[in-house]
Amino acid sequence: MQTLEQIRRFRSILLLIFLPLTTFAQKAGLKDYYKNYLPVGVAVAPGNLNGNEASLIIREFNSITPENAMKMGPIHPEENRYYWKDADSIVNFAQRHGLKVRGHNLCWHEQTPAWLFTDSQGDTVSKEVLLQRLKDHIYTVVKRYKGKIYAWDVVNEAIDDDSTKFLRNSAWYKICGDEFIAKAFEYAHEADPQALLFYNDYNTERPEKRERVYRLLKQLVDQGVPITGVGLQAHWSIFEPSAGELQTAIEKYASLGLKVQITELDVSVYPWEKNMRSRRPGEQDSFTPELEERQREQYKMIFDMFRKYKNIITGVTFWNISDRHTWLDNYPVPGRKNYPLLFDQNLRRKQAYQDVITF
Ligand code: GLA
Repeated sequence: MQTLEQIRRFRSILLLIFLPLTTFAQKAGLKDYYKNYLPVGVAVAPGNLNGNEASLIIREFNSITPENAMKMGPIHPEENRYYWKDADSIVNFAQRHGLKVRGHNLCWHEQTPAWLFTDSQGDTVSKEVLLQRLKDHIYTVVKRYKGKIYAWDVVNEAIDDDSTKFLRNSAWYKICGDEFIAKAFEYAHEADPQALLFYNDYNTERPEKRERVYRLLKQLVDQGVPITGVGLQAHWSIFEPSAGELQTAIEKYASLGLKVQITELDVSVYPWEKNMRSRRPGEQDSFTPELEERQREQYKMIFDMFRKYKNIITGVTFWNISDRHTWLDNYPVPGRKNYPLLFDQNLRRKQAYQDVITF
């Protein structure tokens, strides 16, 4: 028969073993589970940086990306005026809490300021003027945050959506030809030689897009352009990519000697669509157990892959914090809710969270 003393001793041994584990489970976040693999980040707006969302960010993540605040339109609204408040507040938050920052982005065809492509008469500017403007912009923004931003998405989405075409026929391309891409990287490197520099795009695992992204990256590498790697936006879904597509893409890009970062991860519960459309009659938008199950499988597959390729994939960032608010609500279908993240609308960990941290 066990004495009371033996039972007490047994209980304290159990406590000694399990208490630290339960405390770890309560306090640990994604960043802790992944500390031997890669930084785990999230895209934020200044409004996310207080209250419960701020606590969640600090508990779970060790990297942040400004969702909009550093895009050229918001941060550089007039030729001679920058708007720093939002971007500064994000960088200051990161500094206070020891988070890394990924800068996003320096050159894109969307969210550009009205003044950028025209002169005071309203005429389209020359290539020389536009490249000078790009240089001034990149020097000013990158130098301001030198040492505080460890990586930049330098050029965003330069490949055409039409699979039979190569570079997107954007205002950048129309005015400068393909040169603006290499120049943007050169300016960024001059402004902060330590910063890691990325080309960032979506659908980078689809074979047709993958080949065109590869072609662009290869040109840049062959020209000696200072590029560190490729950002896979990873606006994925329960339908794509497959494990095979993801693996092939990672290996293909890495064969150029480039690193890969996952820059805008979410797993939509709907198939990818780009063009806006109205909601169809009867189109459901609830998070059914079937959808949750498929999303869990997809999250598990992609994080298995991130761990497998930890020598190539040097960061993962989620695009928004929780299902309470995601850019995929209303896009591309106004009035339709989406559930693409690891935290639910009450900021609680979803089941997929457990799948991602169990390995
Ligand atoms: C692209 C951009 C992001 C963001 C999303 C939509 O992926 O790179 O900055 O605008 O579209 O939110």
